Amino acid sequence: MQHEPQTARVPFATPASWAQAQVEHVDELLLEQAHLEKMAAAGAVAFLFRAPLDATLHGRLSRLAREELVHFERALKLLEARGVAFQTQPSSGYAERLKKAIRRDLEGRRADELLIAAVIERRSHERMSLLAEALVEVAPEVSAFYRDLCPAEERHEELYLELAALVVGEHAARARYAELTQHEAEVLASLPFSARLHGGLPEVATEARG
Ligand SMILES: [Fe+2]
Ligand SMILES: [Fe+2]
Repeated sequence: MQHEPQTARVPFATPASWAQAQVEHVDELLLEQAHLEKMAAAGAVAFLFRAPLDATLHGRLSRLAREELVHFERALKLLEARGVAFQTQPSSGYAERLKKAIRRDLEGRRADELLIAAVIERRSHERMSLLAEALVEVAPEVSAFYRDLCPAEERHEELYLELAALVVGEHAARARYAELTQHEAEVLASLPFSARLHGGLPEVATEARG
């Protein structure tokens, strides 16, 4: 699948003010990041069992799953270094709301699960880039962590898009991806600002946009 510039496909771009508002919530963000990476690894392994029996594809998905676990371990190390306990955390509601758009028929469901995984990877990549910028001064080690993750998350989005195209064809996958991208923007707009990677905008940014 041809790779377009990321900004060309993002209907809602998160403003830098979102990341600025997160600067005081680094511990909560890192705790969430650990949970997100663990879930991402589990999702990748689940996709591995549904993907076509192609050695190259399986190899790429296996690598993706391993990368998520490495991200998970790095988040755990940062939590430990900051003296933050690894513990449960209430869900942001983002993934649950996104998944409400999943179609019921088998083919539609398989494609949508992959496309939603791609949507999440893309948004995560966008917001981790912003956090990397915002945290350079106040938490350089956390900034470096987010920056290091970005290339992998971009690759993950691409792989999930490729896998969705194998299920429903490239044209249908692209059209559906556009729909789900729009849905995701609405989900984000429905969520309050919080110390989470996937939430709404802070008040100031909302007013500035309006
Ligand atoms: Fe990751
Ligand atoms: Fe990822």
